[in-house]
Amino acid sequence: MSTNHHPVVAIYPGSFDPPTNGHLDLIFRGSRLADQLVVAVLRNEEKRALFSVEERVEMLREAVAGYPNVTVDSFDGLLADYAFRRGARLILRGIRAVSDYEFELQMALMNRRLRPEVETVFLMAAEAYSFLSSRIVKEVIRLGGNVQGLVPPAIEERLRRRLAENRPARP
Ligand code: PNS
Repeated sequence: MSTNHHPVVAIYPGSFDPPTNGHLDLIFRGSRLADQLVVAVLRNEEKRALFSVEERVEMLREAVAGYPNVTVDSFDGLLADYAFRRGARLILRGIRAVSDYEFELQMALMNRRLRPEVETVFLMAAEAYSFLSSRIVKEVIRLGGNVQGLVPPAIEERLRRRLAENRPARP
């Protein structure tokens, strides 16, 4: 929490394509660690996404409506520079399994090199979501499986609609 009356701003960056309950759990817990938490969706033209950045921002805004100190934004370019521009002291990331560690360490060290004043903080994902990823949610729903409890109902509905739109036309 704040020291010397400087509010602690934290950035929680990611692709969020789509946001899952794992992300929302981290947002909830992060909102208790910072005075202001900014959920930041990466604008990455190279990455093929199921939802546009605007759709992802909208889904996140709906999901965090109950948290007064959480806002949603998007960014491009370097995360470290974005965090610095926003006056953030912390970058928040979730770690699910050991397999996440190597990439996260690499990013955290690079971000520290770029902006030493911004600290990366890791939260361990809740056990219930430690296997969960946006990629696996998309795959399960595409193959007709049940993702109830893994994403909010409104996002499950959007996923179904999007995948129905994307289904290739019958020959
Ligand atoms: O949800 P993701 O896809 O794991 O999030 C990855 C993200 C957005 C945190 C990462 O790709 C990122 O920060 N990209 C911005 C570009 C950047 O700063 N790259 C150098 C970091 S080492």
